[in-house]
Amino acid sequence: QKRVLSGMQPSGLLHLGNWLGALENWNALQEQYECFFFVADWHALSSNYADTSRIREYVRELLIDWLAAGIDPKRATVFVQSQVPDHAILHLLFSMIIPVSWLERNPTYKEKQEEIKERDLSTYGFLGYPVLQAADILLYKPDFVPVGKDQLPHLELTRELARRFNSLYRPVFPDPQEHLTKFAKVLGTDGRKMSKSYGNAINLSDQEPVVRQKIKTMITDPARVRRHDPGNPDVCPVYDFHKIFSPLPVIEQINQDCRKAAIGCIDCKKLVADRVVERLAPMWEARATLTQHPSRLDEIAEDGRRRATAVSSQTMAEVRDAMKI
Ligand code: AMP
Ligand code: TRP
Repeated sequence: QKRVLSGMQPSGLLHLGNWLGALENWNALQEQYECFFFVADWHALSSNYADTSRIREYVRELLIDWLAAGIDPKRATVFVQSQVPDHAILHLLFSMIIPVSWLERNPTYKEKQEEIKERDLSTYGFLGYPVLQAADILLYKPDFVPVGKDQLPHLELTRELARRFNSLYRPVFPDPQEHLTKFAKVLGTDGRKMSKSYGNAINLSDQEPVVRQKIKTMITDPARVRRHDPGNPDVCPVYDFHKIFSPLPVIEQINQDCRKAAIGCIDCKKLVADRVVERLAPMWEARATLTQHPSRLDEIAEDGRRRATAVSSQTMAEVRDAMKI
């Protein structure tokens, strides 16, 4: 059976974009492959080392979001990076063989430093972000790594590092392939890409009134000013939501009615809000159950830690043997 590995940083509550763009893919993969999904809490430190006060809370929230969205800890191994020290050990050994120039030319290094001006990111750990990611990946020798396009440079670096290790010592590591998530970008309430940092997100954990309110205030076709103006669904983010959440006949009906001004934006939004609520409701239930039984989360993480370590320790034995240490 082929193996899949992926991780997410615990940097806050997940939204519809994360769900449809990443988690739904994980849900499908766990049906077919041996999956390892982990919370990359050490990675979160790389750009957020000063204020760590909420990190444990974020780790738990992320686990809850995953489980509520359908990740099945019986099928997939769900664990927390910092509970499997092998990630740190392999990171250290990789740091001995990776040329600094590979890291300096990593495009996400400069981009993120430009983006986050308010924190000092001239640290060793931040530069070494992809080394830790390579360790995360190679420890489990996965066939596929489901990621978004933004992660491709890190995956390429992982493969280069694996080749360098294999040629310096002996072949231990495979050549993991990316598994690009096919879902198009989900738009937020302001029509830009849904993102934590834009304040335009609908979170999986938002309560029903919040979800309805956010959809109610969503922007629509800006040219449609009055109720009887014809609208253009192609430029309307609410119509994009319909395309994701409504059944095909409804989507077609909305498309026609909007162009003829036969339906107003308020009614159109109400229709899609009902659908979104319908899809989120089971997650709210699952979330409530998990919140009421906090020890359940610890048990899942502990079971995941055990299963992950069974694989990582095997790889580490090969690594030590290859490096003769
Ligand atoms: P982030 O926390 O923004 O790095 O997102 C984690 C994953 O969620 C990414 O790899 C993307 O695949 C997915 N994602 C985030 N935002 C969106 C969005 N607006 N539409 C679709 N997918 C998204
Ligand atoms: N860097 C990834 C992100 O920001 C998270 C991550 C850490 C990861 N280690 C990983 C993803 C290993 C896949 C495999 O989204």
